[in-house]
Amino acid sequence: MEKIIDFINVNREKYLDELKALLAIPSISALPEHAGDVKRCAEWCADEMRRIGLQNVRLIATPGNPVVYGDWLGAPGAPTSLFYGHYDVQPVDPLNLWESPPFEATIRDGEIYARGSADDKGQVFMHFKAVEAHLKQNGRLPVNMKFILEGEEEVGSVNLDDFVHAHKGDLHADVVVISDSGMFARGVPSMCYGLRGLVYFQLDLRGSSTDLHSGSFGGAVANPAFVLAQIIAQMKDRGGRVKIPGFYDDVRPLEEWERRAWSQLPFNEKQYKKNFGIPKLFGETGYTTLERTWARPTFEVNGLLSGFTGEGAKTVLPAVSMAKISMRLVPNQDPDKIAALFEAYVRKIAPKTVELKITRMHGGKPWMTSFDNPFVQAAGRAIERGFGRPPVFTREGGSIPVVSTFQEELGVPSVLFGVGLPDENAHAPNEKLDVSNFHNGIIASAYLYDEMAHIAVPA
Ligand code: BES
Ligand code: MN
Ligand code: MN
Repeated sequence: MEKIIDFINVNREKYLDELKALLAIPSISALPEHAGDVKRCAEWCADEMRRIGLQNVRLIATPGNPVVYGDWLGAPGAPTSLFYGHYDVQPVDPLNLWESPPFEATIRDGEIYARGSADDKGQVFMHFKAVEAHLKQNGRLPVNMKFILEGEEEVGSVNLDDFVHAHKGDLHADVVVISDSGMFARGVPSMCYGLRGLVYFQLDLRGSSTDLHSGSFGGAVANPAFVLAQIIAQMKDRGGRVKIPGFYDDVRPLEEWERRAWSQLPFNEKQYKKNFGIPKLFGETGYTTLERTWARPTFEVNGLLSGFTGEGAKTVLPAVSMAKISMRLVPNQDPDKIAALFEAYVRKIAPKTVELKITRMHGGKPWMTSFDNPFVQAAGRAIERGFGRPPVFTREGGSIPVVSTFQEELGVPSVLFGVGLPDENAHAPNEKLDVSNFHNGIIASAYLYDEMAHIAVPA
């Protein structure tokens, strides 16, 4: 391993330049005008995978954006690792809040600033470089590897379940490796053993066929902005508990050992409030901040739109109102079941004064794994080598829809080793990735494949 680590250290600066080229491609999956860039990014990844020495590299078409596939299968008898990551990124608006252009990666104060730096291009790139170092220095990898990169994670991985199902045989592996999550804090490397799931809706209300004069009609016609606010207000009680009947039925309670372990983590609530400009925290009564974000389900309004929002005043009764709504789910909540409960509740409480349209959007199942398997142990040792201390075990509030699919379809454990810091602005302006975490992440990944080599697997 010494040669490999030397190689990685020597190439430290070069890796940043290469990563900048990947970060320059605006592969925003949510915006149709970037479809060409998304495709170009897939091709860039495929070329890079060929450059580093992976084989059978190709784009595999889906009804949406292509999956980039590559493998190296020259280690008979050794385990096979399936790496998953995503090459698409979130939109960049509001653009004016970026201190440097989102697609011109810029290094300031030991951080590389660009959309996709932390989520997820920088983290995918760590594994590219780890594989490259093995192949360039040893001519081989310690394990068999399959890579799949998807281009639709940020829009809910809508085509990936079918993809995994259709390619189940080809994707067969002993472990799934993912670097698309966070590190608990600076200097506190982490492995993630749980993710929340998601259901997402759009609600559209119509109160009249056109906007109406609020003097002539106000008082006689329901206002869809107000009705929407009333509907939303009935979703949670004052203690932050979701009021949809049956919502909590399948929630797996927090285990006592988790509560104890999480209370030991170096979490500073004061600093958290300060970092994000939060006047006072709010959440479900009886749970800590970590418990609320990692192990409890939520109901959130992601966007609201109605009426006149320009400068000045306009006396109008809006014809329509719209809300984007999502619920984060925890084991063992089922997205379909929760979606049905939500719809039934909305239909029950919505007054007849408005026309109601409920549109279900993407989502994903929650996921949780036990971490007493040899792959997780191997990853723990690798992380310790890369970061100088063993990882803490965390759950996360975010969602990666395909992780539970891997579990169900392939029946193998996933190892989630992420290096994004909580203040690295994923999905927000000024997304960044700590350069030394990126570098240490490459070293940890190189060790990871080495550490996994000796794990006995079924032939
Ligand atoms: N990398 C994130 C998921 C994540 C966030 C994991 C924080 C761990 C901590 C991923 O790219 C993401 O943003 N997922 C979406 C999924 C959704 C669009 C279905 C999310 O969580 O909102
Ligand atoms: Mn991600
Ligand atoms: Mn994301």
